This record gives sequence, structure tokens and C-alpha cells, in this order.
Amino acid sequence: MAVRPPAAAPATTAAARRSPDALLGLFPPGTSTAPDGALRIGGCHVGELAARHGTPALLVDEGALRARARRYADALAVRRPGSTVAFASKAFPCTAVYRLLAEEGLGVDVASGGELALALAAGTDPARVIVHGNAKTDEFLRAAVEARVGLVVIDNFDDIDRLERLLAEPAQGPGSPSPGAAGQGGRGQTSGTYRQPVLVRVTPDIRPDTHAAVSTGQRDSKFGLLVPQARDAIARLRASDRLRLDGLHVHIGSQILDTEPFVRAVAAVAELGTFPVYDLGGGLGARYTYDDRPPSVEAYVDALTAAADTLLPAGARIVIEPGRSLVAEAGVSLYRVVTVKRAHGETFVAVDGGMGDNLEVSLYGQRFEATVATRPGGAAGGERCRVVGRHCESGDVLSAGVLLDDPRPGDLIAVPATGAYTYSLANNYNAARRPPVVFCRDGRSRPVVRRETYADLMRRDLP
Ligand SMILES: Cc1ncc(COP(=O)(O)O)c(C=O)c1O
Repeated sequence: MAVRPPAAAPATTAAARRSPDALLGLFPPGTSTAPDGALRIGGCHVGELAARHGTPALLVDEGALRARARRYADALAVRRPGSTVAFASKAFPCTAVYRLLAEEGLGVDVASGGELALALAAGTDPARVIVHGNAKTDEFLRAAVEARVGLVVIDNFDDIDRLERLLAEPAQGPGSPSPGAAGQGGRGQTSGTYRQPVLVRVTPDIRPDTHAAVSTGQRDSKFGLLVPQARDAIARLRASDRLRLDGLHVHIGSQILDTEPFVRAVAAVAELGTFPVYDLGGGLGARYTYDDRPPSVEAYVDALTAAADTLLPAGARIVIEPGRSLVAEAGVSLYRVVTVKRAHGETFVAVDGGMGDNLEVSLYGQRFEATVATRPGGAAGGERCRVVGRHCESGDVLSAGVLLDDPRPGDLIAVPATGAYTYSLANNYNAARRPPVVFCRDGRSRPVVRRETYADLMRRDLP
């Protein structure tokens, strides 16, 4: 399996030598430059955003995020009417994002009690929630069944035992009140007994070309059940009077830049029989660097639905769960340069954020581009730089080998395509305060998550 190069490998791209249009191609669609040359995200001037909200900040172009959600929903609706796009919320679990994507008609995938609580607090219809996790606790599953979530994805035999036991508890037993929605018009409610609709997660023995840490469909994956075990789970669930087997789920990994493994995953679940629902997971790669060429949303949905049309029952409902490819391109991280150090033939541009707000680089070697936000793509060709963070690790790199136009302390640096997994993986290393999330639209900006304070850092401490 090919593993992406480490973070320190120089990016092959030269942002500063690109035409303005090409340079903006990694930023949210609609990004422009102001008359003074600075970037405008969602119509907002980066200098004004920094002055108003401070740095580092995670900017989200709200219009671009809505447009991307619509693209996904439309692509699936045209090719497979009646199917569902569910936002894999681990990619950006903040209530404003849950709310926005619910407004756009998407369902939600949650993988913890926390994500479930956020989704419900944001007003997500529980019937549109899909529950995941390879180690679902009693507490999580109880919250899920009490909320009457649409689907629980069975990852292991203990999930079956737990759910059956929890559903037999008095509060969940026969005659208990139920909204009865259960994802599809209340079919979870039969003769007074609530039956939780479930899917079985299948491990298809497929290893896509991506970083090992985000590959999930291979034989030795901790997720799901290999085909023979999946058959046993299916047989057990068919005999259950507490659980209603609606279908199968498969998710082979993340940041996958080719449609072929997704098609193989459809073939793998097709072998297991005929069901009303097939959840084909997420995993489409996002475009992080100028060299990345991920399939378009349409090409990806085309490949999946063509495979479904050939291999799955005609009336089956298809669910897809995009995370990264849904939210990445709408996000831009904005930093302030603290210092520029030229040493050992390298130029280190150190900014006021880093691995505390973007762990993708050190965790997966994900490469990002960067530009001076007020002089994007400067005509002079630029200087090859390593944009580094403020944390106490040499691995604290944001963008390696990028060409920046005469970077100076005080400059603003914009890192595009940071909408996915940066907010989720943000941390307090070096007691850094996590940055705000700022929605930008039509020239107006509004924080939807505030910056952490020093008081926040001590809030859980006990005397
Ligand atoms: C079950 C499941 N569905 C969907 C996703 C979303 O994947 P991605 O963000 O790559 O689209 C994940 C991510 O790990 C997942 O575990």
C-alpha cells in the first residue's frame, strides 16, 4: 500500500508562480481578491477578518459549504431517487455545521455519544441519524435508542447483545412511547414493541490507497465483520424481535482518490443478499494540494450508483456518508506570522497556530498549501518556505516547501482546504487555546464557535 509522504516532504507545487485563478482553485469556490490584492473569503477581506476575529481562526465559507452539500444531494437524487446523503459529522462536529447541513436536507452519521448530543442539540431529526462506532458503550446506545435514531450500525456481536438488552429495559419495552419514525416512516414500531432498525457493517477485505491510519476496509481492520461473520450476524438479526435488520453498511477508508475501490466495496456487500438499505459509507478524497486530482462529487456518485444499479436490488435505498470531501474545501485557516527564520538553507515561517489546530499533518502526513493572504501568489516567484507552528515539536509543520511572497512577521498566512478534521482533532497542546470558527457569507462574518479563553483551559480543574 502506498503511504503518503511525510509532512516534511517538500510540496511539489509553487503557489506563488500560479495564475491568480489557479491559485484560488484550492480555496472555497467564490473566493476572490480585493482591489488591494488580499484574499476575500465569502466576500470578507482577510485583513478585516483577522482584525475582527483574531488569529488563528478557522474560516468557513458558508455559501460554499451549502453549495457542496447541494451538489452531493443533487448528484445522488438524480442518479438514485429516494437515497440519502448523511454528513459524517466526525469531520466537523460543531453545532453550526450540523444545523447548516440539516437545513440542506442531509442526514447525519455520529460515532459517539458526544456527536449524537451535538447533532440533537443542533435540531437534527433523530430519524435521520445513523449511529456508528466499533466500541459503543451502554450509555451511547441507550441515548441512541431513547432518541429513536434512524439506524444503528452493528459493528460486532456485542452491539447486538447490548442493544437487545437495552431494548428490553422497561423504558424501552413494549408499550413505551415512540415517535415511531425510525428512519423510514415508523417501520421500527411493530405491534406495540419498538424494534430498532439496524445495518450490519461489513469488512470487505479491501485496502484502498490511502494512509494506513484511515484505511478501514482491510482484512485486519478493527471495524466491522468479515463476510462469514457478517452472515452469522445477519442470521441472528433476522431472528431478533428487538432489532430490525434493514441492510448493510460498508466504509473502506478516507482520502481515497480513485473510485475503483468503492465499486469493489459495493460488489462485496452485494454478495450478502437482498436488503432494503445499503449504506456505502464515505471516503472520497478532498483536494488539498495543487497536485491532487480527486474524482468530482458527480464522478464518485456516478461510480457508486452505476455499481448499485448493476449489483444491488433496484428499489434499495442507498445511503452515502461523506465527511472530508463535503467540508474540506469550505474551510481556510488564517494565521499571523510571528517570526521568519532563515537558517541551514531553509526559511521557517512560524505562525501563531500549528498542530494544536491542524493535526492532520503530523498525524497522517497530509500535505497542505499556504499563501500570504494579503499577497497571494506574488508575482516575484516567492521564496521556498516551511510554514511551521508554535508548538514544541519539530513535526509541528503546516506546509512544507511552499513558495511564499517575501514573508514577514505580521503577515497573514492562509492555508486552504482545512474544513475537514481540523476542528475535530484540535487540541490544547502547549495549553494553546483552540481557535474560533467563523462563518463568512456575502461579505459578512459571524463567529459560530468562540476562541477558547485561558479560563476555559482551567474550567475542569478541581481545587
Ligand atoms: C463509518 C464512517 N462513515 C463515513 C466516514 C467519513 O469518511 P470521509 O470523511 O473520508 O468521507 C467515516 C470516517 O472515518 C466513517 O468511519
